[in-house]
Amino acid sequence: MTEVPTITLNNGVVIPQLGFGTYQITPQDAKQATLEALEVGYRHIDTAEMYRNEKEVGDAVAASGIDRSEIFVTSKLNNGFHERDAALRAFDATLDALGSDYIDMFLIHWPLPTIGDFVETWKAMQEISESGRVKAIGISNFQVAHLQRLFDETSIVPAVNQIEVHPYLAQDALRTFGTDHGIATEAWSPIAQGKVLDDAVIVAIAEKVGKTPAQVTLRWHIQRGDIIFPKSVTRSRVEENFAIFDFELSDDDIRAITQLDRHERTGPDPDVFDYVPAN
Ligand SMILES: NC(=O)c1ccc[n+]([C@@H]2O[C@H](COP(=O)([O-])OP(=O)(O)OC[C@H]3O[C@@H](n4cnc5c(N)ncnc54)[C@H](OP(=O)(O)O)[C@@H]3O)[C@@H](O)[C@H]2O)c1
Repeated sequence: MTEVPTITLNNGVVIPQLGFGTYQITPQDAKQATLEALEVGYRHIDTAEMYRNEKEVGDAVAASGIDRSEIFVTSKLNNGFHERDAALRAFDATLDALGSDYIDMFLIHWPLPTIGDFVETWKAMQEISESGRVKAIGISNFQVAHLQRLFDETSIVPAVNQIEVHPYLAQDALRTFGTDHGIATEAWSPIAQGKVLDDAVIVAIAEKVGKTPAQVTLRWHIQRGDIIFPKSVTRSRVEENFAIFDFELSDDDIRAITQLDRHERTGPDPDVFDYVPAN
């Protein structure tokens, strides 16, 4: 079976560098899709309370026959639960939904800087961490200024920052800031939900190395050292996205893809995003 490389986080916890994303997988499809990803060999699943599929992901992990300790499961605190007590309750609900007495990683999904105080939320995450029911805590969609506040006002450095990264949004400043402070970068929407796949530069490199544009893009992330979890409900693509460890991109190829950066987001801008779903 393919060996997926791992990254050791700043608290010693080890995470597979390639996982399976579950955003926009409906509750109806999520158990089957996750089971198939586990069958293909993925051992890292990224879910969130916001995706409404934690229960189905947990069902798939339980039904897979794979030892729980061999699967890295991440979930995220939804935007309506930033206040301390709500955050503690939301974590309990996530464990319930996943049917597990622990989770590998728990993240603040969005900083929501215009509507609340994410420092209070991060302190609640630290309490959750101290309860021993999560192996690592982190944040998602935090910008440099948000991270700086966490460093100034709290004691635990997040293990990861999960941010939008792909060839059209290379995020090198934020990634470097993370590296300099021991925070691993997780790159969400690694293929920009498909938007980069017909880019002429990526297509030409794919033809040269005999791989698909998706594989070349995912490999670019891996060689840059980021953690990724492409999403697909299509079995052939789930397999394709896993088959990225038998070739290498040259430094020139990596550079050419990085130069495609045009600061183009597919998702919201974390500095102004303020969506709180009705619960
Ligand atoms: N923290 C956050 O705020 C945040 C935000 C967004 C995403 N995420 C996480 O990151 C994960 C990945 O991001 P994402 O789901 O937004 O986007 P993505 O993985 O970049 O792209 C998924 C889309 O690309 C298609 N696709 C997948 N593999 C393909 C391939 N080999 N060839 C052609 N098309 C392919 C999928 O279609 P089919 O499914 O139809 O095959 C789907 O439409 C999410 O699932 C979630 O876990 C986190």
